[in-house]
Amino acid sequence: MAIDSSAFQNIIDDFTVDAEHLRIVAADFRYDLRKGLADPDASSLRMLKSYVGLPTGEEKGEYLALDFGGTNVRVLRIRLDGDGKFEVLKKVAKPLRIAGQYDYVGKGSTAEEQFGFIAGLVDEAIDGDHETKFLLGHTFSFPSSQTDLNNARLIIWTKEFATAGVEGQVVNDLLLAALKKRGIENVEPRAVINDTVAVLLAAAYKRGATYIGSIYATGHNTCYLEPYAGEATAPMVLNLESGGFMKLAPNRFDTALDEASEKPGEQRLEKMVSGRYMGELFGLVLAELFGEKKDYGFTSIDMSSIINDDTKEKHNVQGILKDKTGHDIDTEDAEHIQELASAIVIRSARLVTASYVGILWQLAGDKPLEKQHIAIDGSVYEKMPLAKENIMRALYELLGEDAAQVDTVLETGGSGLGAAIAAAMSQK
Ligand code: BGC
Repeated sequence: MAIDSSAFQNIIDDFTVDAEHLRIVAADFRYDLRKGLADPDASSLRMLKSYVGLPTGEEKGEYLALDFGGTNVRVLRIRLDGDGKFEVLKKVAKPLRIAGQYDYVGKGSTAEEQFGFIAGLVDEAIDGDHETKFLLGHTFSFPSSQTDLNNARLIIWTKEFATAGVEGQVVNDLLLAALKKRGIENVEPRAVINDTVAVLLAAAYKRGATYIGSIYATGHNTCYLEPYAGEATAPMVLNLESGGFMKLAPNRFDTALDEASEKPGEQRLEKMVSGRYMGELFGLVLAELFGEKKDYGFTSIDMSSIINDDTKEKHNVQGILKDKTGHDIDTEDAEHIQELASAIVIRSARLVTASYVGILWQLAGDKPLEKQHIAIDGSVYEKMPLAKENIMRALYELLGEDAAQVDTVLETGGSGLGAAIAAAMSQK
């Protein structure tokens, strides 16, 4: 099969965010941020209060950290030593779903089963010790509305989670009930934070000068420290749930993906940029090019391998394509397909950067941009070829020489560390 060049070029154009559009997205993002500060209902950003500011770096003590944000749940025992230092003393991790064995995230699973499974992990992390008192920080990475640091109610599942009976509930109540059922009364949940908040706390604890925390992985979202400058309110981290940002120009593949998703109409930015969806978008384009109505099951890891194929003949691309779609393609088509994967990743990095710049503009106001880090965790940022370099490129495009004030830093494992820090901060 030879890919029709002009149809192909149109598709690449559909996935291209040019300089002008990039600036519009950044400006719209800032606009929604300002709107949301005045009234979250008037904005596509949820602007959720976290009831936490930034740590001093001097937080100390041993804590349990529960990291629940994707199919892999982790529980860690972490000792904070102050001076930005810490040690992970124990770590247990298990997937919430193993195909053919069990599934605590899909339709048909219940809150009780899900949190029962998590309580089992907590039990492992404390080695079955039901005596010693443990304070627990919980990184719960779904949109939740909070009334204080420890009270978070799940608004809506994202990332295709569909477990019944969790939406609308206070998640630490579900956790407490599950712990109690297992006879664990010595673990006290003290804080619930979003993973973006955890990443920001972890980065601020270690290196200071960080006001924006972001996840660029299976899901996507960003938080920042709102200074409430000139107001009596203390600075607080706001979880934007920026994956729900709407002022975008979705193409027909984005629309098809959204329509077929668990929550149509929700998380429009996330569905255009995150690891959970990029492979699917890529597959939708290929299905159109091949004239088939099939879900080939491409993942962002496949896209990464496709982009990384620097052989002249593009044998790896050909192999992956054959494997997933059954089609034999020649080198020229393999080059096209590689270009398509790159275009999807580059668009993703540019849209994500536009959201960062919207926040930077808001933070700077009419003052010069402060020198700072943006803390990012996640597999797409860390491993996806073209992601980091296109973030930097787009930062320079939007900020000009001010971009030298900002760098992005990888904050691996921030979700666990941040939960421990939040538990420590809850004692103040
Ligand atoms: C969730 C966010 C989370 C992000 C990254 C999104 O789907 O809505 O709360 O921060 O994924 O895990």
